Amino acid sequence: MTEKAHPGQDLVQELRLLRTQIARHDYLYHTLDAPVIPDVEYDRLFARLEQLEAQHPELITPDSPTQRVGSAPLAGFVQVTHEIPMMSLAKVFDAADLEDFEARIKKRLDTHADISYSCEPKIDGVAVSLLYEDGVLTRAATRGDGITGEDITHNVRTLRDIPLRLGIFHEGAAAVPRRLEVRGEIYMTRSGFDAMNREAENSGGRTFVNPRNAAAGTLRQLDPRITDQRPLRLFCYSAAVLGSAAENEGKGESLGANLSATFTLLEQWGLPVNPERRTVTGAAECLAYAQALLEKRPSLDYEIDGAVIKVDRLQLQAELGFNARTPRWATAYKFPAEEVSTVVEGVDFQVGRTGTITPVARLRPVFVGGVTVSNATLHNMAEIARLGLHVGDTVIIRRAGDVIPKVVKVTTEEGGAADLVDVMMPTHCPACGSEVEPDGDILIRCSGGLVCPAQRKEAVRHFCARGALDIEGLGEKLVEQLVDGGLVHDVADVFHLRREDFEGLERMGEKSVGNLLTAIDKARSTTLPRFLFGLGIPEVGEATALALVNHFGTLDRIMAADATSLEEVEDVGPIVAAHVQHFFANEENRAVVARLRQSGVRWNESEVAAQSDVLNGQIFVLTGTLEVMTRDEAKERLQALGAKVAGSVSKKTTYVVAGPGAGSKLDKALELDIPVLDEQQFLAFLWERACTR
Ligand code: IVH
Repeated sequence: MTEKAHPGQDLVQELRLLRTQIARHDYLYHTLDAPVIPDVEYDRLFARLEQLEAQHPELITPDSPTQRVGSAPLAGFVQVTHEIPMMSLAKVFDAADLEDFEARIKKRLDTHADISYSCEPKIDGVAVSLLYEDGVLTRAATRGDGITGEDITHNVRTLRDIPLRLGIFHEGAAAVPRRLEVRGEIYMTRSGFDAMNREAENSGGRTFVNPRNAAAGTLRQLDPRITDQRPLRLFCYSAAVLGSAAENEGKGESLGANLSATFTLLEQWGLPVNPERRTVTGAAECLAYAQALLEKRPSLDYEIDGAVIKVDRLQLQAELGFNARTPRWATAYKFPAEEVSTVVEGVDFQVGRTGTITPVARLRPVFVGGVTVSNATLHNMAEIARLGLHVGDTVIIRRAGDVIPKVVKVTTEEGGAADLVDVMMPTHCPACGSEVEPDGDILIRCSGGLVCPAQRKEAVRHFCARGALDIEGLGEKLVEQLVDGGLVHDVADVFHLRREDFEGLERMGEKSVGNLLTAIDKARSTTLPRFLFGLGIPEVGEATALALVNHFGTLDRIMAADATSLEEVEDVGPIVAAHVQHFFANEENRAVVARLRQSGVRWNESEVAAQSDVLNGQIFVLTGTLEVMTRDEAKERLQALGAKVAGSVSKKTTYVVAGPGAGSKLDKALELDIPVLDEQQFLAFLWERACTR
């Protein structure tokens, strides 16, 4: 008798154990982001399961983790009729709308009592219905028209944060109903979307316009092997027990008294629910929730287009019932759109500090992502060609979080606009008329150097900006007037400005001029990293300037360094080294540096040479308002001690320094258990470290 014909009890048990273990590790890794075993260990379990199933194919079960990705693409989609229609949500836009929403509810319930609400992010993804029968995922469907959707089980099974079997992870979890329908939103993470598009760009593949389209396109794949490669995830937002009470009797027939309890059950069964959900009381608290969520929007790794406010008690939901298309017990508090449509009224070419010429779309002003936008960079001519963009086109603009607005797509229909004008690459600099020359493979630059007023303005603006000499009051508008008026030719001229030079300039009264001259005088005393950064050498940002100073100690040594010694500096490669060398080889640049020194610009080189590395390898994040020192100063002090200062909190962060007004970064630090210092603790910390240098 072979083992294959009559598999032993041990084998069946081992298979069951392996499947539960793997499903649990999928849950810990994909749903909770908290793996407890290394990848090799997981791979070993998976390989063992595959091996046993290959030897005993008759023992393969549909909920086995090896069965997530089916083998062959489907021929087409099968229609599914929803047992309970999938409705949409009514919308509100402000506090008054929210109050009306609550007033309607109270009126209908004939009550003056406080109402509790479950508030959640409104995920910008694709709605999905999951059917679990006896705890096993048997079908997944799209919303479709709300009555009939499409069967996408083959694709949904590939999402590792969707359990194929429920209720196997938590000891003592409530029984799973016999037929349970769970609804939620499948979405693509922002980070996954960016990585996927970058990869597609590099390999010449198709890129997606936004995470939502990418998620929708992926779920429409007939081949689950493609879906399996894409970073899709799920948040569940509702559940219902299907069938009669009798059918479900003794089988977890209830989902609790309120939505909050339902979410706890879903979580216990292994389904992903949104950690940002909250239960609040009354319209005012709903509004506060929505406003806080809007603040947090840029730091979430998924796109949301609002907050969903739902009456928490299921009994009250049942009493309120539905209108034709929407429930009376829920509403969507809509956030400003991050993508809108507008028209390209022109394309200008802008000259940057180093002469690079960039096309910029001049747009019919639109409100997007919370601000009015009238320009969007087009990067280069290749991007214009890729978009197929003309002046006169209708385009979709995207501005998510605080990022720079971007043209994502041309939507003018063929023959839709009569007077489209092609965008032509300029042959001469729009600011000074010098010829343009290639700048790398896809960019062009003005060959005029400091002859070009646009480059001069940008160079002066950069020199005076924060992070460089930080001269308060010498902003873009004033620099423009000073350069156009012939008063400032290069950065050294800033230190020769006199009171009378400002006569007749816009908004430069006696007091402003006095303040500005004081600020200029104060800026004479600076630090070498700021000075070096301020010179505007291509590719030399604040971090590189600091690394150069830490390595060489003095400006003279940096100016004299050859490529080999420059490349010894951390993070300096051949390109940066060539830029530094090229910059200081230029007589004109050397003359500007000499004139700056003659004008009294100075720094303490012995202090620079005493840079320390007591905080080497430590990563700090600064958030909120610091009162004793500015954030720039704090950053400089940390960098001088060898620390890195990062913009966002991750597991790698060593400390978060939080002042009043700290928001999502502080939340993240607390969530990840990262030590947080207030400003007083931070000052004490610096003091101790500075003493050990
Ligand atoms: S509850 C009766 N909660 O928004 C409808 N919907 O217009 C109950 N959505 O297509 C829906 N996040 O897929 C609900 N946390 C959330 C949601 C959410 C996104 C989608 C949903 C639907 C649309 C409603």
